[in-house]
Amino acid sequence: MISTKGIILAGGSGTRLYPASLILSKQLQLVYDKPMIYYPLSTLMLSGIREILIISTERDIPFFQKLLGDGSHLGLSIQYAIQEKPHGIAEAFIIGESFIKGNQVSLILGDNILYGKLDFFRNSLNDNLGASIFGYEVNNPEEFGVVELSKDGKILSIEEKPLIAKSNLAITGLYIFDHNVVMYAKALKPSKRGELEITDIQRIYLEENKLSCRVMGRGIAWLDTGTPENLLEAGMFIHSIEKRQGRKIACLEEIALFNGFVSIQDYEENLKKIPECNYKKYCKMVLKEFKELKELA
Ligand code: TTP
Repeated sequence: MISTKGIILAGGSGTRLYPASLILSKQLQLVYDKPMIYYPLSTLMLSGIREILIISTERDIPFFQKLLGDGSHLGLSIQYAIQEKPHGIAEAFIIGESFIKGNQVSLILGDNILYGKLDFFRNSLNDNLGASIFGYEVNNPEEFGVVELSKDGKILSIEEKPLIAKSNLAITGLYIFDHNVVMYAKALKPSKRGELEITDIQRIYLEENKLSCRVMGRGIAWLDTGTPENLLEAGMFIHSIEKRQGRKIACLEEIALFNGFVSIQDYEENLKKIPECNYKKYCKMVLKEFKELKELA
């Protein structure tokens, strides 16, 4: 597998979550039982990505650092960088230039939650020939970047928040790019709304015939958490599944253990630092299961 670096873009203004966003980043707000950033981070981890850059505001970076540290307890390497102002999603590649350093990179927006089998993403990490985007059928495509596909899956057009959408396929906040993305981002001019647009980068790859789009099937849940209502719905979704299965979604410690990012000893050391709570109880149960599996093998 090609090695891929991961960027989580977790800045922005969070206007729609005012007043909570006055004091705390959107991506640190609770989605049922854990901070929002756990979910996009789990998506990267589940796909084998271990070198991660978190980009956020100067105000919020210290909180992310307190939450996730350097990532070593999860077998990750996590770095942090500041985005001074929300100049646009594509600015992530300029900020992340020295982190990307000639590698393939996957960007995920810090407020995007994915639930379901991630094979579509893993496959694209392996066969990405330039840039990959992921389409998801929604009933309000006008609120997103929209991709139009031909019958054989070729991209016909890409539009940012069109008045009338040519398809109902929204472009999700998960992307893969080759190292050229840094050069392209640097050459971008801000759009009318003053942002470096990710769709403009996608268009460059499209013109070079190097952009592909996979459609996430209906078996995947792609949840947005930008408004109080979305946030509540996402929380209820996570709660329903976790309650039904007795399993947590996006428990980072569990993913690190089962993916072999940490040893049992590292996991046990880390457990000691977690206060007595339901999350710890769950982590202990996971460890017991893991040890039983090892004995069976
Ligand atoms: P948005 O939801 O478009 O913007 P926002 O988070 O600032 O919220 P609001 O519209 O309510 O003001 O951003 C999508 C994601 O991308 C979100 O995780 C924030 C992040 N983002 C940045 O970190 N920097 C940016 O410059 C932009 C445009 C977005």
